[in-house]
Amino acid sequence: MKLTITKETSPGETRVAATPESVKKLVGLGHSVTLESGAGADAGFPDKAYSEEGATIAKSVDEAVKGADLLLKVRAPSAEEAGQYPEGLTVIALMNPFDMGDLTDAFNKKKLNTLAMEFTPRITRAQSMDALSSQSNLAGYRAVIEGAQIYGRAMPMMMTAAGTVAPAKVFVMGAGVAGLQAIATARRLGGVVTATDVRPAAKEQVASLGAKFVAVEDEEFKEAETAGGYAKEMSDEYKQKQNELTRSHIAKQDIVITTALIPGRPAPELISEDMVKSMKPGSVIVDMAVSSGGNCPLSKPDEVVDVEGVKVAGFSNLPARLPADSSSLYAKNLISFLPLITAEDGALNLETDDEIVTAMLLTRGGETVNERLK
Ligand code: NAI
Repeated sequence: MKLTITKETSPGETRVAATPESVKKLVGLGHSVTLESGAGADAGFPDKAYSEEGATIAKSVDEAVKGADLLLKVRAPSAEEAGQYPEGLTVIALMNPFDMGDLTDAFNKKKLNTLAMEFTPRITRAQSMDALSSQSNLAGYRAVIEGAQIYGRAMPMMMTAAGTVAPAKVFVMGAGVAGLQAIATARRLGGVVTATDVRPAAKEQVASLGAKFVAVEDEEFKEAETAGGYAKEMSDEYKQKQNELTRSHIAKQDIVITTALIPGRPAPELISEDMVKSMKPGSVIVDMAVSSGGNCPLSKPDEVVDVEGVKVAGFSNLPARLPADSSSLYAKNLISFLPLITAEDGALNLETDDEIVTAMLLTRGGETVNERLK
């Protein structure tokens, strides 16, 4: 099939949906690959690196999508971009499916077949395709690096002739993919780490990384995980108990990383304004949920807010802060997925009842076909 990759247009997006390595694989599989000039530049991959692996470089979006079967993207195309595409083009991207507004109308107008990487089901067979996991992993790592940089002290304990530097106390709220990587990173940097979550499965995972688990472990907690492995929205009563526990714990922490998300709903508020004010000046909060409403009401996207000396940082796109690695893992996720929509002769084939494809398909031939979107 004819694959194409265009330059991302969302502000601050540095990732790209293919790397020279992934292009080499695609060409090796017999596909033809076109790349819009400059698409990989922000991730450190110049045009030449792609053309050396067999990609054709197109001068514009129009030239890149002309005659293409499949467009690989990182972020959903805007309505304007969709308007530029040829009718019937298939597009795979991180579509942000729960917040698309009327973007699907623009897709349907052009009869685009669109697939959302976020809807990769959490089944063993799909693990290598799971872009939410690959990107969250890197984001969790980067959140700790950003937090450590804002923090005006050292992370590890240091015993020097001039005296001892105390280790940083790090608290990770939400121990999913991002949270677990944040725990591992903070431990490697020498922090003393505690973590919390509402899913009981997280307890053992936190302990296996050498961190202490701190949570309200009541009857509701025991049933807080959905069949899909995600967290449920908790009751007001649970939130109250969780609040009390967090309040006493957080006042003693130096760096807090919040990662709590509930798919399709606003992020739960975990750190209130007065909790922030109870922290020592110089402490840092990194709110990884800032794009979904935030785990702390004081965080603002891509700003470091100073609240009486406590720094509240919100990064709306942490994977874009290490674009070479995040692009590379994302491109690998796409390569793993591609066989599911490839016919034996190498042509694009959406005529499949594979549950992974069905789960990811948003629009097809002018209609919204996804049950979760409907
Ligand atoms: P997520 O990004 O939806 O949420 C982040 C974390 O916040 C989750 O651990 C969630 O339980 C937690 N959280 C939600 N509300 C909270 C609250 N009020 N207080 C504290 N924490 C709260 O979750 P993510 O990272 O996608 O992972 C969820 C689970 O799915 C993990 O156990 C992960 O290992 C599993 N998973 C399984 C895969 C597979 O089987 N293919 C692939 C990826 C993840």
